[in-house]
Amino acid sequence: MADLKGRTVFITGSGGVLGSTYVRRMLASGARVVASDLPGERAEGLKDRHGGDAGNFRFYELDVTDEEAVEGIFRRVMGDGWDPNVVINNAAVTGELLVAQGQDFPDLASTRTEDFEKVIRTNLTGAFMVARQMDRDIVGRYPASLINVASMYALRGPHHAIYDDMPFKNLSAYGISKAGIHGLTVWLASYWAGRQATVNTIAPGAVFNGHSDEFQRRVSELVMAGRMARTDEIADVMLFLASEAAGYMTGQLVNVDGGYSAW
Ligand SMILES: NC(=O)c1ccc[n+]([C@@H]2O[C@H](COP(=O)([O-])OP(=O)(O)OC[C@H]3O[C@@H](n4cnc5c(N)ncnc54)[C@H](O)[C@@H]3O)[C@@H](O)[C@H]2O)c1
Repeated sequence: MADLKGRTVFITGSGGVLGSTYVRRMLASGARVVASDLPGERAEGLKDRHGGDAGNFRFYELDVTDEEAVEGIFRRVMGDGWDPNVVINNAAVTGELLVAQGQDFPDLASTRTEDFEKVIRTNLTGAFMVARQMDRDIVGRYPASLINVASMYALRGPHHAIYDDMPFKNLSAYGISKAGIHGLTVWLASYWAGRQATVNTIAPGAVFNGHSDEFQRRVSELVMAGRMARTDEIADVMLFLASEAAGYMTGQLVNVDGGYSAW
């Protein structure tokens, strides 16, 4: 198990399915964790589970689409004595979030440009703004690493048929934003070369979160492991990337997808 003692990890979108798993597992591995998310139920649930701002856990509200808020976040966190040496761009508009909001999943022909841009603003521009702020406030001052979260759909097209008759579909903006995320990784890796800053991408596969038996069956047929992922299986690799053990890695994309991308 990764040892995260001495790591202070800043995570966006921390209240979601994977974010909250990273928070729990990182605290258990000895990290100091600076969690952030939009205000709301997810944030409140996360704070309740970790006893508010206590021990090695701190929570800050942060909307990654709010440029002014992103520009102030590291100064706020560092002013409180929590200088992050690991930053995780995890926040995203996901199918899960849209289902929870009762939103429609239009086909490509009916996709409105403003809805496409909203997803890009969170998943890609938000990640860019966090990375740019890390460059301004952290990079070059002390060793640090950034982990960008992509998806099995970053560099491969989805099998659209698995979404037939499902309450959610695979949105064009999602995969496009996730391809852009890895573009951000490789661009930054070379920009930060020689400045004690590394940046990598993790690309999780499909994580089980109460999906129907039929959806599980369809996904499982596309995966060498023959099943969907458990949140802790993604966290195992995230913890490694956040640890000193990953210090010689930069500019890489790590698939944790049960073999989806190897077929
Ligand atoms: N769950 C999966 O199967 C899966 C697979 C591949 C990749 N991913 C990626 O992993 C990451 C986490 O996914 P998840 O499954 O936990 O999703 P989730 O929907 O449970 O969580 C996403 C979190 O992002 C937050 N968020 C949304 N907009 C935000 C904004 N403007 N500012 C700040 N926070 C915002 C939400 O409040 C939520 O807590 C995402 O980047 C997602 O694309 C997930």
